[in-house]
Amino acid sequence: MSTIRTYVFVHLAEGPVPAGLLTMTEEPRNKYATFAYGRRYLERPDRVAVDPVSLPLHDTGTTRAYQTEEGFAVFNGIRDAAPDGWGQYLMYKAMGDRLPGDADLILASGDHRVGALAFGPTPERPERITPWGEGTAPGEEFTLAELAEAAERAQHVEELDDNLRTLLSAGSSLGGARPKAVTTIDDNAWIAKFQKRGDTFPECRVELATMRLASECGLDVPALDFRCVLDRDIYLIERFDRGLRGNQMERRSFASGLTMLGAHESEVSRYSYADLAGAIRQYGTQVRKDLRELFRRMVFNILVTNDDDHLRNHGFLFDGTGWRLSPLYDVVPKPQVGLERKQVLGVGPEGRNATIGNALAGAAVFDLGGEEATEIANELKQAVSAKWEAHFEVAGISIADRKRFATCFRLAKADT
Ligand SMILES: Nc1ncnc2c1ncn2[C@@H]1O[C@H](COP(=O)(O)OP(=O)(O)OP(=O)(O)O)[C@@H](O)[C@H]1O
Ligand SMILES: [Mg+2]
Repeated sequence: MSTIRTYVFVHLAEGPVPAGLLTMTEEPRNKYATFAYGRRYLERPDRVAVDPVSLPLHDTGTTRAYQTEEGFAVFNGIRDAAPDGWGQYLMYKAMGDRLPGDADLILASGDHRVGALAFGPTPERPERITPWGEGTAPGEEFTLAELAEAAERAQHVEELDDNLRTLLSAGSSLGGARPKAVTTIDDNAWIAKFQKRGDTFPECRVELATMRLASECGLDVPALDFRCVLDRDIYLIERFDRGLRGNQMERRSFASGLTMLGAHESEVSRYSYADLAGAIRQYGTQVRKDLRELFRRMVFNILVTNDDDHLRNHGFLFDGTGWRLSPLYDVVPKPQVGLERKQVLGVGPEGRNATIGNALAGAAVFDLGGEEATEIANELKQAVSAKWEAHFEVAGISIADRKRFATCFRLAKADT
């Protein structure tokens, strides 16, 4: 049995503040974690929950030691701060083909991780601990060309050399499966997403075109950009969990949809957009606005055949009082052969069936009347069918690829 203890910090306006103590225990057949808030943190008027669902704030009169529910190695809100497929792959390589454990992922993820959490062995200050012995993340900035090259090389070489390891400190901390890194443009924080070995279509360009389309359809989309450096595509999206306050980089608390529903990763397809609507009602501060935005995102995902709408691809940001839907991210159509499609999340009374009829039948959950919901769906259909191809063309996607992608937009063109 091994137990790792770490302090959990939350970045507030004044910088990182110790919020509580986390333990992560690994037994041969069981993994679990415990967490307790510190009294001084609970007394702060600007305190933010580390995880609003599994680790709710409480008053200082009581002491609470939280333990993860069965099957959860760590609390969802803390797991949000650790990398997924891509970062795990890099760590695996950096550790000499040893699989990083849950604690490695959390302690090694570094300053660029999503949201406002940080970790460290003492309550003095956060400290990055990497099993490959690199120490704290270097403050150096790398050019996009260097990052793109490093991301590509990392997918080809068997072992990460020192140079690559250093470069990829910028790339191993974020979530998601695709190659990516953080970068700075005009003093603002951005995420750069790169091509992946084995991609069968120009993913970066398709994501750019689709996100621009989403923005034109009135969805809440961060600033976007695109570069092609030495023949390598780079999709850029501004970070919504970072922002300049004076000359300080502020970090905003983030919680994935998984966290907001207290859901287990392996069970996402049991959840629905209606469940996310429930989280907005329970924790939201702009309920009407966010319910409407969520409905529009669901309809948009159906219309553009983005069926990778799992709970980590939905996010929430703390606004000082409660939790708002984060801006949109990771919307990528996938060409289809069959006509019948399913979303990852439930859409309406017909479950996960990806049809506008199903979305409309469940519209009441989003506080929308039938007429209003139909109007929204029609407006989105019209915009998507009229504009998708122009966005794909501007993004430099070939005619041949556009033909393949036309299958994604069939529903937007359909009469019903
Ligand atoms: N603009 C942004 N600002 C802040 N955080 C973001 C932003 N976009 C994405 N993220 C965070 O980074 C994670 C990974 O991003 P994204 O989902 O785009 O990557 P991906 O590799 O395509 O994911 P997937 O594994 O779902 O395909 C997200 O789950 C989210 O936590
Ligand atoms: Mg994603």
